[in-house]
Amino acid sequence: MSVSLPVRKVPFHQVSIGLAEMDAVQDAMESNWLSPRGPKVPELGRLWADVVGHEHGIATSSGTGAIHVALLASGVGRGDQVIVPTYTCSPTVYPVSYVGATPVFVDCELETYGMDPARLEDALWRHQPKAIIVVDLYGSSCHEDTWDVLDAYRRRHELIVIEDACESVGGRYHASRGQEPEIPMTGARADIGTFSLRGDKILTALGTGGIVTTNDDQLARMIAYYVDLGLHNDSTMGRYRDLACVGMNYEISNPAAACGIVQIERRDEIVNGRRKSAATWGMLLAGTEDRISLMADYPGHAYYQFPLLFPRLRGADDLDILGERIQARAVPLIPPFWPMHLQPAYKAKWDGPRKRAALANAEYASGHVLLFPCYPALSEEDIAYMVAVILEEEQWTASHQS
Ligand SMILES: Cc1ncc(COP(=O)(O)O)c(C=O)c1O
Repeated sequence: MSVSLPVRKVPFHQVSIGLAEMDAVQDAMESNWLSPRGPKVPELGRLWADVVGHEHGIATSSGTGAIHVALLASGVGRGDQVIVPTYTCSPTVYPVSYVGATPVFVDCELETYGMDPARLEDALWRHQPKAIIVVDLYGSSCHEDTWDVLDAYRRRHELIVIEDACESVGGRYHASRGQEPEIPMTGARADIGTFSLRGDKILTALGTGGIVTTNDDQLARMIAYYVDLGLHNDSTMGRYRDLACVGMNYEISNPAAACGIVQIERRDEIVNGRRKSAATWGMLLAGTEDRISLMADYPGHAYYQFPLLFPRLRGADDLDILGERIQARAVPLIPPFWPMHLQPAYKAKWDGPRKRAALANAEYASGHVLLFPCYPALSEEDIAYMVAVILEEEQWTASHQS
């Protein structure tokens, strides 16, 4: 371990909250509207729908709730199969189990960590699922070819496409598809876009929050019912008669929505700040490609986090050693996702050698990737310190493997 480098304490996450958010929250509280019936809640949904380019936006208490109501409103339930990535956070997948449907896991590719388009194509034609949840990770959109595969399939079969853009709020797709005046925001190409405003995401409400967007009037109506206990009758006296469905309580509070609105208004500044930090990471890691692989960069990447892949390591045991050595020098990191097909809820069905071979990239990523901070407030000195520690510890770990 180096003795020459003075330790620098860098937090893993720092919220980009300022006076404007605090004023908005205070105003909402002074207005006497704390509950989700307050005016900021529908305003939040509408504003984000406008940004994404969808007709409807419904605010929720979390991204997990957003995915759950997206499935419920789409009529996905027992007996249905839903294609999901195995390399993702559990809330992409658990809502499939909440509604009693069966997840069909698809492997990732290692440029965006989204689903591998070739594996996806194979899974679609083999399983003919009712729905798919496409995931955008780490601020990036999934691989561009994913949308071609989905379009080709949808010309022949019905399929509900839900996009889990919880980690790429404010990010854009890789390319335009022809007609759009500008490259659309992630979530826009799906039937239903789902977003997280959790406190450690790119944009936040007050700690937790989410939004669902869609162009479909009927889906939007059902999503709103599912978010709010099935209530569908606006008249004061009729409110509790004939509830539309067995709804959840996934509402967001009025002050939280007020905070989320200001964050959405500041999205360009916040995303540009993240991109600037990512550019510094890239510059300082230039020339280390044989030791560290970076995620594919492109102009719409919103850089929620900065993943580094360490190809010289032999797997999860070495990654644990490297991660612990880096953390011991006050560099913050979080581990990669552990594939969902290896989680206790799904492992029994997915643990066979053939199935696991088809999910090998996800297992590789879980043994070779570490995630580092990429928020706007990072200084060049912060990133330079982290890079120096990472390079030293990678060298040590690669030369001490069992
Ligand atoms: C990929 C992904 N999907 C869904 C979620 C769920 O969002 P939330 O924490 O707001 O429920 C998260 C974040 O936790 C996530 O990273």
